[in-house]
Amino acid sequence: MLGTSKQDEQSRLPMQGIPQPKREEVLNLPRVHISNHPVMAHKMTLLRNKNTPTPQFYQLVHEIGALLAYEATASLSLEKNSIETPLQATTGYRLAGGIGITPILRAGLGLAEGFRQVIPDIQVWHLGLKRDERTLQALEYYNQLPHQVDMQVVYAVDPMLATGGSAIDAINILKRRGIPRISYIGIIAAPYGLLKLSQTHPDIDIYVAALDESLNDLGYIVPGLGDAGDRQFGTF
Ligand code: PRP
Ligand code: URA
Repeated sequence: MLGTSKQDEQSRLPMQGIPQPKREEVLNLPRVHISNHPVMAHKMTLLRNKNTPTPQFYQLVHEIGALLAYEATASLSLEKNSIETPLQATTGYRLAGGIGITPILRAGLGLAEGFRQVIPDIQVWHLGLKRDERTLQALEYYNQLPHQVDMQVVYAVDPMLATGGSAIDAINILKRRGIPRISYIGIIAAPYGLLKLSQTHPDIDIYVAALDESLNDLGYIVPGLGDAGDRQFGTF
């Protein structure tokens, strides 16, 4: 019989047969920043290792979050701030306007903690999205975004940018709150998801620690690190 039956469609793996861009094709996308820091490469290798136990994995996610925070905050605006040192008056600087971070639950939690080590007075807006493993569509199940916002920038953080569905939905939700400047922070991106996010939201900056080769038929990033949520929280 010609064509695909409904049963074939339903049993097909979600990324099976779906064309994906090559890594080299997305290396130089506008507003995409891929870390080339040697300390990051060192920590990423420990993170990817399947023998790294949960407590060390969680600690590494914090540390990588802090390194990404340094890279992603390099272009923030400052305003002048008069203070007195123990010796005399002087002019210093403080970050202009509020800064928000949106951890995409649950895997974004560890990354957000690392960010908070760098900027402790950041506002944290939790957003729960769960990827349906059969369709790879993200479903929203929790939203603690405030209605009144006056922010210089909001960072959406989630370790894994796979198909890009969760990141695109998160940015759509933040844009509906009228946030003027949004950045996405992730640990590992697949070329497929990176291209989708960059094309759908060309007005945001995207910072990742590494760009991997592809997605497997199940929609997992390879070589990747496995399931970022399960590895952080020990839920295997
Ligand atoms: C993972 C990951 C991202 C999403 C990425 O979360 O943390 O949120 O999948 O996939 P995508 O780019 O194809 O949307 P998951 O939905 O498994 O939830 P979890 O954080 O609770 O483990
Ligand atoms: N979510 C993960 O945690 N890992 C992947 O490789 C893809 C999505």
